[in-house]
Amino acid sequence: MTRGMRKGLTSYGDADFSLFLRKAFIKAMGLSDDALARPVVGIANTFSDYNACHGNVPKLVEAIKRGVMLAGALPMEFPTISIHESFAHPTSMFLRNLMAMDTEEMIRAQPMDAVVLIGGCDKTIPAQMMACASADVPTIIVPVGPMLVGHYQGEQLGACTDCRRLWGEHRGGRIDAQQIERINERLAPTAGTCMVMGTASTMACIVEAMGLALPGSASIPATHADRLRSAEASGQFAAAMAVNGGPTPAQLMTPASFRNAMVVLQAIGGSTNGLVHLTAAAGRLGIKIDLDEFDRLGREVPVLLDLKPSGRHYMEHFHWAGGVPRLLRELDGLIDLDAPTAMGGTLRDVVAAAEDVRGQDVIRSRADPIKAYGSMAVLGGNLAPRGAVIKQSAASRALMTHRGRAVVFESVQDLTERIDDPDLDVTADDVLVLRNAGPRGAPGMPEAGYLPIQKKLAQQGVKDMVRISDARMSGTAFGTIVLHIAPESAVGGPLGLVRSGDTIALDVPGRRIDLQVDAAELARRRAALGAGPSAGAAPVPDRGYAALFHRTVLQADEGCDFDFLVPGRTSG
Ligand code: FES
Repeated sequence: MTRGMRKGLTSYGDADFSLFLRKAFIKAMGLSDDALARPVVGIANTFSDYNACHGNVPKLVEAIKRGVMLAGALPMEFPTISIHESFAHPTSMFLRNLMAMDTEEMIRAQPMDAVVLIGGCDKTIPAQMMACASADVPTIIVPVGPMLVGHYQGEQLGACTDCRRLWGEHRGGRIDAQQIERINERLAPTAGTCMVMGTASTMACIVEAMGLALPGSASIPATHADRLRSAEASGQFAAAMAVNGGPTPAQLMTPASFRNAMVVLQAIGGSTNGLVHLTAAAGRLGIKIDLDEFDRLGREVPVLLDLKPSGRHYMEHFHWAGGVPRLLRELDGLIDLDAPTAMGGTLRDVVAAAEDVRGQDVIRSRADPIKAYGSMAVLGGNLAPRGAVIKQSAASRALMTHRGRAVVFESVQDLTERIDDPDLDVTADDVLVLRNAGPRGAPGMPEAGYLPIQKKLAQQGVKDMVRISDARMSGTAFGTIVLHIAPESAVGGPLGLVRSGDTIALDVPGRRIDLQVDAAELARRRAALGAGPSAGAAPVPDRGYAALFHRTVLQADEGCDFDFLVPGRTSG
């Protein structure tokens, strides 16, 4: 097998000349023939001035390089796209597939026998999972790690569950402008990813549970020395994988390990986005994430982590309680411990080495869970023929079965313009409906599913309402919120038929979301809509990445990947 600098030579029609030229250029970096004869470990650097979550990446690169060299291989750092959640217009999700393509193609294009991918902020690890699944070069993922908690007036603060909660208090008039400015300075006090169980923490836990990242690497705080030691060890393991030619991502990302990931997603109170990303990564390998199975697991697997937004603590507390290895021990019997890891052993080895921390109350036992059921439920019903999802662990018990009058917003723009209109006819018992916010309609499926409570209701103390949409929401958010309705309204989904004043019934125990309007009336409405583009959807782009996205993005139940990136799918 071709290894090292001989791998993937540029085509000039003369392989020896290609190698000669490659070495001539790389020697301009001062590399010796000895260095160039070693196995090569690529390191994807995702540092960006726009991405504060990745602020520690330069130190991680240094530590990974040290590990690679200690093991006798040659580290080669290269850049890829970096995406920060708050610095991506229109949404970070719009760019996830671009990052996945960038990462996959640069792994393929450049000579490397193994690769270390440094990810963290929400869509970066998902993009890297998709990329490594397709490139199938031995891979270790190094999460950047979570931020430390912030503090305000004796209270611990965490981005971004507390961002949303305290902003809600500000909207309700209980926190003034000066206080909210001070809080703004305290919510994200260090480099690292959001320190609650948002999407970043969820995906970091998932790659650790799938054996793609080292034990403990999901939860070691971004700023701690252990994070650097873990990065160094990741470099050493990557060097061993470069020599051994494996294990490859396809050997690690099996149906059994995806099932393990689904169990972990339910047990950690994980982000709803995690389900979309897992579906996309599995799809790259021809593996289908079965929503019915995921829902069944949600009935069997309790939430065991007492972390925000489902519970009380933050990622650093999870880490000091034993992290993912200790959690996996609690899940014995529900997960397949024979699943292999990038380090060469199995999850059983990881669990055997898990630290026992006496008196910790972050990782609960199955006999004493945070919630008796899993994080998420999958809904059907006439509004969601291809499914919808609700994070039941972060929803209000009292609203899990609810009938209410629909108050419809045609788009995110319409929502922004009208939600705080004092003349808007809305009560706390109504169901807020947002459409044209799916993968194609918005585009990029923004995290707009957490519709704000109207100011006048917030001022009356209303903290939650049933909200439904074809959008996503941040994993850090809390509320009775139905998301990812598929198919989305912009491609003809029934969400487009709802009118303000209709009755909508949510039945989480029965796993249904229904529009209670008779079939003949719905048929009339569908005929009136016609076959053209949905009125509230974004204009159809005619060029560039946006046009590619519009033409090829799949629905939420298929992971929102591009159809041409999924084996066996043909681009429309
Ligand atoms: Fe980067 Fe939350 S904004 S992880």
